[in-house]
Amino acid sequence: MNRTLRIWRGDRTGGRFVEYTVEQFDGEVLLDVVHRVQATVAPDLAVRWNCKAGKCGSCSAEVDGRPRLMCMTRMRLFPPDQPVTIAPLHTFPLQKDLVTDVSFNYRAAQKVPAFAPKERPGDGHRVDQVDVGRIQEFHRCIECFLCQDVCHVIRDHEENKAAFVGPRFMVRLAELEMHPLDTADRRAAAVELLGIGYCNITKCCTEVCPASIAITDNAIIPMKERVADRFFDPLGWLFRAIGRRR
Ligand code: SF4
Ligand code: SF4
Ligand code: FES
Repeated sequence: MNRTLRIWRGDRTGGRFVEYTVEQFDGEVLLDVVHRVQATVAPDLAVRWNCKAGKCGSCSAEVDGRPRLMCMTRMRLFPPDQPVTIAPLHTFPLQKDLVTDVSFNYRAAQKVPAFAPKERPGDGHRVDQVDVGRIQEFHRCIECFLCQDVCHVIRDHEENKAAFVGPRFMVRLAELEMHPLDTADRRAAAVELLGIGYCNITKCCTEVCPASIAITDNAIIPMKERVADRFFDPLGWLFRAIGRRR
């Protein structure tokens, strides 16, 4: 069967959608068909991928307007008689065709205060399973940045990128902050460096996460609660003030 893809072609100076019709076989994913376009009719098409197994997070794109991993998107999802539209991630500067410059995320990662483990006792650490279980889902993040792409705080507001690191790094913050062996207190950094107050819990990030991480419910909301305890709980403030005086 033949399938038509409408693929964004261009660079930072401009571009347009171009239609390509190529063969598609049963059981294929979108990345297979994009590769066939590249192999047969558009050898200069720029597209990023690595694992083709939903593990490396490289093949992110906007497919019919929704952020997706192309290697995990079955072609049977789309009506066979209509073209499938593929655009690069909108939140990051375009390099060429479907490839964007995601270096904003590497700078954001550097803002999260690093893991600060407890000193190891002679007979080793003891950690409760319930504490390990709580952060386990955060380890599934493949850094595809689909959540960053859909977050309205940074998607259409370049000026917010200096203040808010985006949902992926709220997950990283929670992963470290809830780690049973970590000793650092990142609550001030969450507000001042990472911009947690910019998130208004719309949950769009959670909806697109291919690793099914409950970004908003399990990472951002608990971190907002911890920050509120630290800065806005009057009893906590009083006890800290008395402690400082002593
Ligand atoms: S819940 Fe917060 S981080 Fe997630 S998309 Fe909405 S504003 Fe962005
Ligand atoms: S949290 Fe989910 S959507 Fe965001 S980068 Fe990680 S895997 Fe991708
Ligand atoms: S190619 Fe690795 S996640 Fe798609």
